[in-house]
Amino acid sequence: MSLPTVLLAPHGPRVSPVIAGCWRMGEWNQTAAPRLGWIEQALDLGLSTFDHADIYGGYTVEALFGQALALRPALRERMQIVSKCGIRLVDARRPAHAIKSYDTSAAHVTASVDASLAALGCGHLDLLLIHRPDALTDPDELAEVCQRLRQAGKVRHFGVSNHRPSQLAMLHRRLPLVTNQIELSPLQLAALDDGTLDQCLDLGLRPMIWSPLGGGRLFSADDARAARVREVLAQLGRQHGGASVATMAFAWILRHPSRPLPLTGSGRIEALREAVAALDVRLSAEDWYRVWQASTGHEVP
Ligand SMILES: NC(=O)c1ccc[n+]([C@@H]2O[C@H](COP(=O)([O-])OP(=O)(O)OC[C@H]3O[C@@H](n4cnc5c(N)ncnc54)[C@H](OP(=O)(O)O)[C@@H]3O)[C@@H](O)[C@H]2O)c1
Repeated sequence: MSLPTVLLAPHGPRVSPVIAGCWRMGEWNQTAAPRLGWIEQALDLGLSTFDHADIYGGYTVEALFGQALALRPALRERMQIVSKCGIRLVDARRPAHAIKSYDTSAAHVTASVDASLAALGCGHLDLLLIHRPDALTDPDELAEVCQRLRQAGKVRHFGVSNHRPSQLAMLHRRLPLVTNQIELSPLQLAALDDGTLDQCLDLGLRPMIWSPLGGGRLFSADDARAARVREVLAQLGRQHGGASVATMAFAWILRHPSRPLPLTGSGRIEALREAVAALDVRLSAEDWYRVWQASTGHEVP
């Protein structure tokens, strides 16, 4: 099976409609060959876009991915690579970082992109996201360094992650952005109400969605809210040909008119398949609100 790529924003890039998140790759305890196998199987399923950040796995995941890719370098042409920068973690690999902080200065962004490219073993990133809003961002300096990275051929497109509408708008006026990567799940509804998704719709920037299954809490949490949501998703799954709770959670995200692109987080190919299966499910508006009601614990006002 293969999925056609879709436009993330009116002027690109093209990405897969479900994106393979690599945050947890370091926890999968694989050697390079099975890691390459995971990448190949994700590609065969149609997940051609891979989501990274410099800090994933304590600055290790990009290199794990790069080592696997080095076993079959031709795969690079079949994929799009997303990475992020702007967070400085305290880590033995970054001895200069004394406290956890944010940094969107030209020097940090440039050094971070160079380190990501070296770790991934790639000549360019398809998309670079500013990982978190930085209170000290100078938007003109950031826009300028991004233009330089584009001119140097190192980064093709830019976006943000976890940015409020005013923060995205400020940068978007200086540098055309293509997405806001945000958290949304049946257990995390904030983006529906705080203007984040309204802005994506308005600007035609499709949001990328992290932790679509609440980082696994949808299955593991034993509180009443999670239990209610699981129950409703399971009921809906039975009405949709026996689809799994995970598939229905992805379908709930995909139903939003901003046309979100969910990120998977699993190392299991079956879990990637469950996410892809959601592309064939369209919830009715009433069923979408059934999940909303289970999450909030009350009917709409
Ligand atoms: N921009 C940001 O600030 C930000 C923040 C967080 C994440 N992200 C990105 O978003 C991606 C996805 O986030 P996430 O990992 O939190 O996603 P998620 O899909 O909400 O959670 C994945 C976790 O749920 C577990 N899980 C349990 N049952 C599952 C099931 N039936 N199906 C699928 N997973 C199940 C997975 O374990 P198994 O592996 O055992 O399936 C995995 O540990 C990350 O890889 C990263 O690329 C971005």
